[in-house]
Amino acid sequence: MKIISTLKYERAHSEEITFVPTMGSLHAGHFSLIEKAKDFSCPIWMSIFVNKLQFNKNVDYKNYPRDLNKDISNAEIAGVDVLFTPDINYILNKESLKYISSGDKGIVLEGESRPGHFDGVLTVVNRLLELIRPKYIVLGKKDAQQLFLIKKKLENNYPRTEFISSSTVREDSGLALSSRNKLLSNSAIEVSAELFKCLKIFYSAFSSGESVEVSRAKAKKYINQYTKIELDYLEIVDASSFVKPKEDTFRYFILIAAIIDGVRLIDNIYFEKKNNRYYVDLGINLTGEGNK
Ligand code: PAJ
Repeated sequence: MKIISTLKYERAHSEEITFVPTMGSLHAGHFSLIEKAKDFSCPIWMSIFVNKLQFNKNVDYKNYPRDLNKDISNAEIAGVDVLFTPDINYILNKESLKYISSGDKGIVLEGESRPGHFDGVLTVVNRLLELIRPKYIVLGKKDAQQLFLIKKKLENNYPRTEFISSSTVREDSGLALSSRNKLLSNSAIEVSAELFKCLKIFYSAFSSGESVEVSRAKAKKYINQYTKIELDYLEIVDASSFVKPKEDTFRYFILIAAIIDGVRLIDNIYFEKKNNRYYVDLGINLTGEGNK
């Protein structure tokens, strides 16, 4: 594996590559994106860059887990060909940086609680795409609103890049893997798995014909029994517009955000409705099996 921290602009005309952007502190969720990337038979580039712009609180930026040496050896084992670990000034260079606004869909849900977060994400992903010009970029469904906004705001600017999404990887308990899980105590980890159960309660009520309101109330009642969990939002949206589902909605996300032990966690379930039947993607667990 090659490790680089700058690249030549001529890259735009060289080989086709598959790109996986990350902020490091790598876990099995990130490695599942590498596995997905292998489907495209191009050299795999991964970036590790903790993007200051997307942290609305400086303390979160400072506390974000970092372990570059471990990441380097794990990335190599996972099959990354080129690891891009740029310096902050190279990426966030004020003179050349183009700021991207996430617009009205960037200030709801996650964006409402984290002002400026999605503008920061889009600005850095745009910068990385500008530099790397990949044939494919692989992103996780774990960050559903991020995935939605990256596609909505950047897809048209990069017609030669295909935006690929990949399922969420979970612990056997159902807890979605996240670099932030490292900041949780053991007891907080245990209770965090309830977020996924809450999503499943919402989904099973909704898919068996209950209204959005009744489904949400059932799921909320369940999660509210856990005093350690401070719920921020629990919503269902049309996955193609990120607004309330309508009669003709056929792709959905149920989204949850909560603070546990001072750590903000997010999760979601994606599902589709076809011919009055529901097909749900609950993600995959660490042993590679689907979740029930
Ligand atoms: P980071 O949180 O490191 O995540 C990098 C990629 O891994 C994202 O596409 C994310 O959705 C995916 N991912 C995280 N946890 C996952 C899980 N449990 N299962 C599957 N995929 C998972 O997301 C970011 O970094 C940043 O915002 C970034 C896009 C790199 C821009 O700075």
